[in-house]
Amino acid sequence: MTEAILLVGGKGTRLRPMTVNTPKPMVPAAGVPFLTHQLARARAAGVEHIVLATSYLAEVFEPYFGDGSSLGLHLEYVTEVEPLGTGGAIRNVAERLTSGPDEPVLIFNGDILTGLDIRALVHTHETSGADVSLHLTRVEDPRAFGLVPTDPTGRVTAFLEKPQTPEEIVTDQINAGAYVFRRSVIDSIPAGRPVSVERETFPGLLADGAHLQGMVDSTYWLDLGTPQAFVRGSADLVLGRAPSPAVPGRCGDRLVVDGAEVAADAKLTGGTVVCAGAVVGEGARIDGSAVMAGAVVEPGAVVTDSLVGEGARIGARTVLHGAVIGDGAHVGADNELRDGVRVWCGAHLPAGAVRFSSDQ
Ligand code: GDD
Ligand code: MG
Repeated sequence: MTEAILLVGGKGTRLRPMTVNTPKPMVPAAGVPFLTHQLARARAAGVEHIVLATSYLAEVFEPYFGDGSSLGLHLEYVTEVEPLGTGGAIRNVAERLTSGPDEPVLIFNGDILTGLDIRALVHTHETSGADVSLHLTRVEDPRAFGLVPTDPTGRVTAFLEKPQTPEEIVTDQINAGAYVFRRSVIDSIPAGRPVSVERETFPGLLADGAHLQGMVDSTYWLDLGTPQAFVRGSADLVLGRAPSPAVPGRCGDRLVVDGAEVAADAKLTGGTVVCAGAVVGEGARIDGSAVMAGAVVEPGAVVTDSLVGEGARIGARTVLHGAVIGDGAHVGADNELRDGVRVWCGAHLPAGAVRFSSDQ
């Protein structure tokens, strides 16, 4: 059976402060560390052996997932001393792979929520005889991604990571962060130094005439790299719009994880998740948001499209709209926080300190 590598070593800078204490793949989405969804989906597609390439906050993965047997997987962990980049990370775990030189190895970015048919990607790889096959998706604004134009047969003609100029935007097809590599191609990546698979390996392979095959589809796809995207992804998991066998409960308008306490007249909608040990007070309204473990939302607070970190406290009547509240932060009563504001872990905001409206 095909084995897989999961790239989970990035610093998650754009998701701060959620990633100050927790690496991005371990930030809970729909009540469980995001990585659980990816692992469960890979398992459901028949993958049994997965090597996690860790770097930033590497020590938290193994205590949580162990040998993977609770997910029916055999998990291994390899930590980079210095971050090696995406290509370097792939090369660095090569010795843990058991596949033969011509066998396919799956590789996943650790922050992608998608309905990708993993077996179909492997099938495309095998029938096309490619050296590397890439899952591609179409997005409206491709600038934050790797652009991957293909010819009419799906063969990749170029790879342009994070294009800088308008002339470089030659397609709306982007690298969706899931690959199948012929095992021997992994072994050909230089060892012991940082390598970007996007900026060095793919362009180099193309220059050498290697066969890179794209598989475009229109299934659910989201990179959870920003707070806005992360909260959207969590809500879509809860709503059942994004497929995962690992959502801890029935999909619907809300998910209240065992051990959370929600007042009878609080209103939870739009795929809101309330994690274990969290408390939601009377009359609070929470829409499309994630309230992490042990957080408290006091009576009458109105929380929309926001992330409330572990152990954070949102004061009575406070309004959050598109906000990120770091772990352990306290937002006093009667604040109004909007539009991408990030309150750092442990920060304390007094009551009535910040308003966007002119009323008090
Ligand atoms: N082990 C390890 N070491 N992992 C790393 C390192 C590293 O030095 N650097 C990044 N990663 C992991 C991240 O944890 C993440 O899971 C994955 O590699 C991709 O890194 P991101 O930082 O999320 O990259 P991106 O979102 O800007 O761009 C990538 O993903 C896009 C799709 O979402 C690229 O692959 C783009 O081409 C692609 O379009
Ligand atoms: Mg990303």
